[in-house]
Amino acid sequence: MNLVHGTLHRHGLSGSSDGLSSLLEKVYEERGWDFRNYKRSTLSRRISKLLQSARARSCEDYLQVLRKDPYEYHRLFSTLTIKVSEFFREPEVFSALEGIVRREFSGAPLKSWCCGCAYGEEAYSLGAVFAEAMSPEAFAGSRIFATDIDCDALDQARRAVYREDAIANVSPSLREKYFVPADGFYKVSMELRGLVRFGTLDIVQSPSIRGVNVLLCRNLFIYFNKHLQNTVFGKLDYALRPGGILVMGKAEVLPHPYSARYEPLGRGLNIFRKCR
Ligand SMILES: C[S@@+](CC[C@H](N)C(=O)[O-])C[C@H]1O[C@@H](n2cnc3c(N)ncnc32)[C@H](O)[C@@H]1O
Repeated sequence: MNLVHGTLHRHGLSGSSDGLSSLLEKVYEERGWDFRNYKRSTLSRRISKLLQSARARSCEDYLQVLRKDPYEYHRLFSTLTIKVSEFFREPEVFSALEGIVRREFSGAPLKSWCCGCAYGEEAYSLGAVFAEAMSPEAFAGSRIFATDIDCDALDQARRAVYREDAIANVSPSLREKYFVPADGFYKVSMELRGLVRFGTLDIVQSPSIRGVNVLLCRNLFIYFNKHLQNTVFGKLDYALRPGGILVMGKAEVLPHPYSARYEPLGRGLNIFRKCR
């Protein structure tokens, strides 16, 4: 049973249209995390499971659990932020990106941004693309800013140690160059770690960064409703220089008001060039 929607009928929570809205409002008031415009279908499925594991029969019950045990907020936060990722996720996207960087951006330093970088897999993958495609001087002057709402995930990203399954898509030659095996795990090389700067940034509530040449924002918009997609896309658009490259997740679409200003590069890859 879907407990989240179950509450709507059985408990009729006051002051909002359903139990989930009340819960998200409370979380915003108490912690400042604004998940109010995340897609309800996804949240509802995940929170329903969380309620079951906390033995709460409704969102209202769950609010009591949160009141009694503030540590429960950690579990809730990690339920609300889905951090599935891997190195070279959708390898064909990274191959295409490598071609673009080699052809167009290999000679001058780049400023890049991975927005919603989870545990760092995507940022280090982009780093390997840069190392392969750019001149040593351009690489040395480049930076990748990798941001996420979850500071614990970023701590892990800075440690840069991964299990073998996270690097399943990494070719043997790239493994050799950019990973150091350590006690059954793999540590990202110093060369790539020096390129990436991790920082906490909640893209819903914070201003974005500026002057970016290559921007990856993949598999984040899928969690936003249309309204939030438009608002956040405005921030990405502001960040990206004219002529810069934007990469979105394969299941994501450019919000309509912006689509005329972004030229797709390749088919079905969701790589775009911002018009000059
Ligand atoms: C599914 S992961 C995507 C990771 C990577 N981009 C990829 O495609 O493999 C989504 C990431 O977005 C982060 N996230 C969710 N809401 C966010 C927000 N408001 N601001 C910044 N990051 C957010 C989550 O913490 C999570 O790490």
